Amino acid sequence: MHFKRTLSAVKREDFKTCADSSFCQRNRAYADKISNNSSFVSPYNLIENSIIIKDGVLSGEIINIENDLHFILELNLLTIDAARIRINEKYPLKPRYDEVKNFALVNEPSNTLDYTVLPSQDGLTSISFGKEGKQKVFVYHSPFRVEFLFNDVPVVTLNDRGIFNFEHLRKKGDSSPSLWEETFNGKVDSKPNGPESIGLDISFPGFSHVYGIPEHASTLSLKETRGGSESAYTEPYRLYNLDVFEYELDNPMSLYGSIPFMMAHRKGASAAILWLNSAETWIDITKSKEDKHGLSSFLNFGKSTITTNTHWISESGIIDIFIFLGPTTSDIHYQYGLLTGFTTMPQYFAIAYHQCRWNYLNQDDVFEVDEGFDKYDIPYDVIWLDIEHTDNKKYTTWDNVKFSDPIKMQNNIAFKGRKMVTIVDPHLKRDDNFILYKEALDLDLFIKGSDGQVYDAWCWPGSSSWPDFTNPKTCEWWSKKFTLDQYKGSTESLFIWNDMNEPSVFSGPEITFPKDIIQHNGWEHRDLHNIYGLSFHAATFSGLLNRKNSSHRPFILSRSFFAGSQRYGAIWTGDNMAKWDHLAISSPMLLTIGISGLPFSGADVGGFFGNPEPELLVRWYQAGAFQPFFRAHAHIDTKRREPWLSGSPYTEYIRDAIRERYALLPLWYTLFYETSITGKPIIRPMFEVYPDEEKGFAIEDQYFVGDSLLVKPVVNQGQTSIEVYFSGDEIYYDYYNFQRIQGSNKVVKVDAPLNKIPVFIHGGSIIPRRQRIRRSSSGMRLDPFTLLIAINNKGEANGTLYLDDGETSVLRVERIIFIGLDKKPSKIFAYNNSNPSIKRELEFKFGGIGTTINTFTTLSSKDVLVIKDPKLFITEDWTVQF
Ligand code: NOJ
Repeated sequence: MHFKRTLSAVKREDFKTCADSSFCQRNRAYADKISNNSSFVSPYNLIENSIIIKDGVLSGEIINIENDLHFILELNLLTIDAARIRINEKYPLKPRYDEVKNFALVNEPSNTLDYTVLPSQDGLTSISFGKEGKQKVFVYHSPFRVEFLFNDVPVVTLNDRGIFNFEHLRKKGDSSPSLWEETFNGKVDSKPNGPESIGLDISFPGFSHVYGIPEHASTLSLKETRGGSESAYTEPYRLYNLDVFEYELDNPMSLYGSIPFMMAHRKGASAAILWLNSAETWIDITKSKEDKHGLSSFLNFGKSTITTNTHWISESGIIDIFIFLGPTTSDIHYQYGLLTGFTTMPQYFAIAYHQCRWNYLNQDDVFEVDEGFDKYDIPYDVIWLDIEHTDNKKYTTWDNVKFSDPIKMQNNIAFKGRKMVTIVDPHLKRDDNFILYKEALDLDLFIKGSDGQVYDAWCWPGSSSWPDFTNPKTCEWWSKKFTLDQYKGSTESLFIWNDMNEPSVFSGPEITFPKDIIQHNGWEHRDLHNIYGLSFHAATFSGLLNRKNSSHRPFILSRSFFAGSQRYGAIWTGDNMAKWDHLAISSPMLLTIGISGLPFSGADVGGFFGNPEPELLVRWYQAGAFQPFFRAHAHIDTKRREPWLSGSPYTEYIRDAIRERYALLPLWYTLFYETSITGKPIIRPMFEVYPDEEKGFAIEDQYFVGDSLLVKPVVNQGQTSIEVYFSGDEIYYDYYNFQRIQGSNKVVKVDAPLNKIPVFIHGGSIIPRRQRIRRSSSGMRLDPFTLLIAINNKGEANGTLYLDDGETSVLRVERIIFIGLDKKPSKIFAYNNSNPSIKRELEFKFGGIGTTINTFTTLSSKDVLVIKDPKLFITEDWTVQF
């Protein structure tokens, strides 16, 4: 059975608006009721005598005085210089979903003891915490509202507008029947728990720009969604992972992934929040000039003080929010990384160029494409196989006619230092002869329908079922399926592509699972929809780790994602189109995903649907060469477009763009290492590099690679010159001819002929390059470097170069030697910086006169300390402490 969808524009009617989602509508209506009634007071009060502050936690009880319902409040002050607020029903009829933390976070963060309770005032509890007590939290009791301050200036407030709304679980019959069942496009959602939504307003006083909450085909600086300017949307931003066919641009509709992380930035301050909830979520954004907190006096903003108000609405679960007070964006990225994990260090090949198409037809086709690259002297590292390579869409099998000898095929590719990737989707064909299906069925690992039977719906293979990756048993089973003996026809040079994992279900409501189907521990899919993709990605990651005894870093591309996906590999922006505006939007989309903790991301080069004209293809390669994940891909119905098919001069221009990527791989690899320990994005919006330059805050069509290259992709047809904004009082140099351009916050028109992507070296950087371009990155790994040292205004430059073997995660530290210590430490500990609370004691020798360290060194000094086999890895970020 071959299921093909025909081309047409997005079918808006397939997807819900806020008005079609009753919980969104109810919470929006509640917000309206409140904002239209100036005498309204939020009914939620924190009961004064319930407040206890102990060991970094403020706990208390909140009452809704309208219906006398009680809620438990917990405010945690964390060692990672952030705070957390959790609110749940005190006596829920049954437990509410609170397991998303097990998927998104590396572990539960610890509370800090570094805080001071400030003198009490009527109706207000205040605490200072963290960095020199510069962070403060004010908890107002009646009505309940919270204000976070940095340096005594409010930066984040909760329930300031009084829209907090917690729908308690109730018995059927307690309320209107329409709350218990909903129908969309003829599909019924049985809603066995009735209404159970949560809503809260979160404001960023003094901030006119907020960023984040991917994935949307929208702007970098997020737009208003209600009653605002002409450019405002009328719908809230939606977070609900969906396979939106032919998505529209400049639109808050949800796409394949969700990261409920939002960052606010202004001159002098940054703050962010993570709304840890995996159910369907909508976010309204408005901006107001009203200066509730008297900010104009201390911020010196005059009358233009703007507050960005946001309203978060989730269908179920509990309130669990992390608040990061920065104060810089780098602080926030680090704090967020400590919480949800840092980008896993990729293998070297994964950041080089990837060649994909739906589909390379057979192994001869694969060889021809592979040879084409050599013939035209174009480097590439990975060739990909889409769904047609399988036996009837049974993933991890091969079509024996088209791919009669997959091992030989992979070995031939590997011989040139290249790799292959095959697609493995989560829907398993319901066919008793398909071993993965049969095993999952026998082991009872499939998701069940609301009727208790294994859920059966339609995807590429026809009738399919989906393993439940939120069940640890499923993950354990799945993680054994990638060893070479299990995945027949695979080799160690084969890596994986996880697609359709929102999940995409052709016969389901909004092309996904019904919300009332049942997952592990009896949770409704409704509660955890947005982590299905991440749970599948994580299980496949374990599968590749198991393949070589955890020694080699996996590579898995996923389409769906959530907070924490950065720990498992790369993502891409799904099915874009071969159109100029789709090329243009790839910059804001990737910048947004990158600042939201998931920097390893890319967009299909060339556009997935349709046939790009050669000029568009060239411009797309030039942009892609300066984006973190660089892969060309195309729909099955498109014309072939391997780089040499464009003909002269386009092929040469494409070759130049790809070769430029290879020359700069040392820089990209260093930046991946940097993000793996700091969380900083790899491509950075202007405000990350020049945080005080307001003119740059909404710029989204140019960006920095690290801090050292300024890139402005050309995204318009026929364009041969372009205006670039140069930030700061700094020198820039044209990447091609090293000509100087003085920055000083000005726009300069530069030439941008078709053979050139506008790139500028930021004065003060050192750029490592490898100038001998070979057929794949592995051939270049022992090549010498060229260092471009670009002097800044002060006559200085600095840079970093990170090197390792490019493949393993086990480059072990064999021995650490400290020289010149004046006394013996009592104990020595090691810990991973992503998890400082778990410390391991290390054995050591001190002052071993006569100890032989190596052929040249025998100790003759007492002040030497030797730690043998500390069980630390070069590629990890660790601390040894004594
Ligand atoms: C949808 C993916 O987004 C696309 O990249 C892929 O080619 C098709 N599925 C077929 O697997």
